[in-house]
Amino acid sequence: MSKRQLNAAFDSEDFLAQYWQKKPVLLTKFIPNFSDSLAPEELAGLACEELVESRLVTEAEPGKWQLRHGPFKDSDFTQLPQSNWTLLVQAVDQWVEDVADIKTLFNFLPSWRIDDIMISFAAQGGSVGPHYDYYDVFLLQGQGERNWKVGDRCDFNAELVSGEELSLLQNFKSTMEFNLSAGDALYIPPRFAHWGTATNDSLCYSIGFRAPSMAEMIEGFSDFIIKDQDPAQRYEDSKAQAGLRRAEIKPELLDASYRQLTERLAQKQEFAGWFGCYVSQPKYPELIQPLDDELSPQDFAALLGDGVQLMKNPSSRFAFMESAAKDCVLLFVDGAMVSFSMKQLSNIVAFCEAPQIVPSSSNNLLADPEITELLRQLLNQGSLLAAD
Ligand code: SIN
Ligand code: CO
Repeated sequence: MSKRQLNAAFDSEDFLAQYWQKKPVLLTKFIPNFSDSLAPEELAGLACEELVESRLVTEAEPGKWQLRHGPFKDSDFTQLPQSNWTLLVQAVDQWVEDVADIKTLFNFLPSWRIDDIMISFAAQGGSVGPHYDYYDVFLLQGQGERNWKVGDRCDFNAELVSGEELSLLQNFKSTMEFNLSAGDALYIPPRFAHWGTATNDSLCYSIGFRAPSMAEMIEGFSDFIIKDQDPAQRYEDSKAQAGLRRAEIKPELLDASYRQLTERLAQKQEFAGWFGCYVSQPKYPELIQPLDDELSPQDFAALLGDGVQLMKNPSSRFAFMESAAKDCVLLFVDGAMVSFSMKQLSNIVAFCEAPQIVPSSSNNLLADPEITELLRQLLNQGSLLAAD
């Protein structure tokens, strides 16, 4: 349960109907009395860590942005000017529990859609320039104030400033402008142009949502079904007729293969399985490490007997799907799928919702041997962590 709460006046149904994926909206006092999860200095500290993804964007002269990638050194920060730079640190929710906690406020959206929480600290005047993102994002203001200019939805061929690693828009036209202070959030749907500038030293939490691209879906699903593909199934032209021009590929000779190909792809159940695996893939798989010594069922029972708590690895991702066709519930953890009979539905739902698994929880997952075995395997593979 988060110590923060969404504004009681926020109507998630109305938000989903009117704005989600459709148009930007300012959510004033989205989180009332918002207090930051960390200080700018702590953010800078994270940006010095090897495993943390970070960037520093400096506007050396008006309209000229420079990008550097972390990890940084303390001296990189002491050399910075008073103004016009932004430090951006990706996936802070992986490292700071209080930031991970913010994700629970977005439970009006599927948890598997959330990608990460990036936090930026911008010194007065700092900005990363006009751009668009492919993801939905909530820009939640922490300390200080930021001015956001928002434009229209960009085409995929919107002209970008050439020769820059930052994909900045050549022609940015602002159609809306907002000034955000602590607790306000600006929702930006995919591909809407936006440009935030720090009015004064300020923190911004970007809650970003993942959505596989069509290219990822075509490639990923093809790879998934290719594994069971019968190598004997080939292009065939048993309907070939005499009198062809020798080099011609007659369109009707492709009919059988094209039909087989489209039939093979049109498998919603298989696609659903692939999709669950794909969206539950961790962003940082290297942060999920199997135990050096696997726990046997006896070792695991002894561990539980010692009163150990099982926590979800903050890098792990969990989702489930009811499969009416197969009369089963599919659990997806870190890119893999496990199938359970429907009688386990409430346990799987409870497991996916629970931040931690303790023997005393109202839904006692450990009372069920099948779930206990699942938990053992997840602990062995690093998706769960044991805490005293
Ligand atoms: C920022 O935090 O300044 C940039 C975030 C964004 O525009 O996506
Ligand atoms: Co952006």
